[in-house]
Amino acid sequence: MPENEALKKPIISIKGLTKVFTLGREKVVALNGIDLEIYPGEIVCLLGTSGSGKSTLLNMMAGLEKPTKGSIVIFGERLDRMSERKLAMFRQKNMGFVFQSYNLLPNLTAIDNVALPLAFAGMKKKIRNKKARKMLKLVGLGKRMRHKPTQMSGGQQQRVGIARAFVGTPKIVFADEPTGNLDTRTTIEIMEMMVSLSRENRQTLIIVTHDIEIAAYADKIYHIIDGRISSMDDNRSKQIIPGRQSVETAQAEAEAAAEEAADAVRSEESLPEIRKGREESAPDEPVIEPIGPIDIKDGESSAEEIENILEDSDISEIHTEEE
Ligand SMILES: Nc1ncnc2c1ncn2[C@@H]1O[C@H](COP(=O)(O)OP(=O)(O)OP(=O)(O)O)[C@@H](O)[C@H]1O
Ligand SMILES: [Mg+2]
Repeated sequence: MPENEALKKPIISIKGLTKVFTLGREKVVALNGIDLEIYPGEIVCLLGTSGSGKSTLLNMMAGLEKPTKGSIVIFGERLDRMSERKLAMFRQKNMGFVFQSYNLLPNLTAIDNVALPLAFAGMKKKIRNKKARKMLKLVGLGKRMRHKPTQMSGGQQQRVGIARAFVGTPKIVFADEPTGNLDTRTTIEIMEMMVSLSRENRQTLIIVTHDIEIAAYADKIYHIIDGRISSMDDNRSKQIIPGRQSVETAQAEAEAAAEEAADAVRSEESLPEIRKGREESAPDEPVIEPIGPIDIKDGESSAEEIENILEDSDISEIHTEEE
C-alpha cells in the first residue's frame, strides 16, 4: 500500500462480503468473500467477465441489495444495516448513478432529467434549473436542453445521464457498464468526461466493466472472478492509453487549474465551467432535508410522484432553510 494511502481513511470498506441468491432449490453464489477498500477520490474499476459478480458488488456498495454475509461501511456507517428509508436518503445525498441503458425518464426533457436529483433533495426550481443548465453545457449539450430522450442519440443520452449523476456533486458515482451501448469514439468521450468530472471535484468513481480498455482509465483495477477479487492492478504510475495523462500529471494540472480558478475569483475573471459549478454549490450549500425516500436509482419512482415534485415546486420553502 502506498505511504499516503496508509494515512487516508477509506471511503468504502468491505469485509467478507458474500451474496447467495436462492432460486427454488438452486443457490447461486454471486459474491464469495470480498474484502475491498476504496479511498476518497479514487477511480476504481471492477473488471470481470459476464456473471462474475460485478453488478452484484456494485449494487451492494450502493445499498441496493443486502449481503448474505459480511459488512459494508461507507463514511463510517454500516450500509448493510440501514433501513430502506435511510438508505434512500443516504443515496440521494452521497451517490450518483450512471447506467448502461441511461435510465432517463422518457417524458422529461434533458434539463428536467438532470434537475431531478436536485428536486428530490428539495432545491428550488430556479436554482436547480440553473445548475442543470450549467451541467448540460459542461457535457456539451447546451443546445439540447429541451430535447427528450427519444430525440437524442445514445451518446447524448448518456451525457444527460452523466450530468444527472454529477449535478449534485455526490461523493461517490457508480457506473455500471456506462459505455456498453456506445461506439468506440463515443466511449472515449464519455469515459474522459466522467474521469475529468470526478477528478475536478475529487469524487470517487466506481466503474463496472468487462472491457480492459475502459478499465485503463481507472487508478486501480480489481479483477473479479467467480465472485472473488483475484488481483488488483495499480495504474497510477502508468501511462496506458495514448492521449491519457498519467494520474500525477492530471492531478498536478487539476491543482494548477484550481489555483488559476481561485486567482480568477479574486480578480473576478470568468471561471472554467466545471469550477463554476463547484464554487456555486460549495461551502454555503443550504441544509437540505430530503423530501422522502424517493430516488432515481433505477427509475422506479412513479410518474405521478415525479410530476408532483417537478410541478410544485417550491417544496424547498418548507424543506430548506435558505438558498
Ligand atoms: N437477482 C438474482 N437472482 C438470482 N441470481 C442472480 C441475481 N442477480 C445476479 N445473479 C447471479 O449472480 C451472478 C453474478 O451476477 P452479476 O449480475 O453480478 O454479474 P456481472 O458480472 O455483472 O455480469 P454481466 O457482465 O453479464 O453484467 C450470476 O451468476 C447471476 O446469474
Ligand atoms: Mg452486470
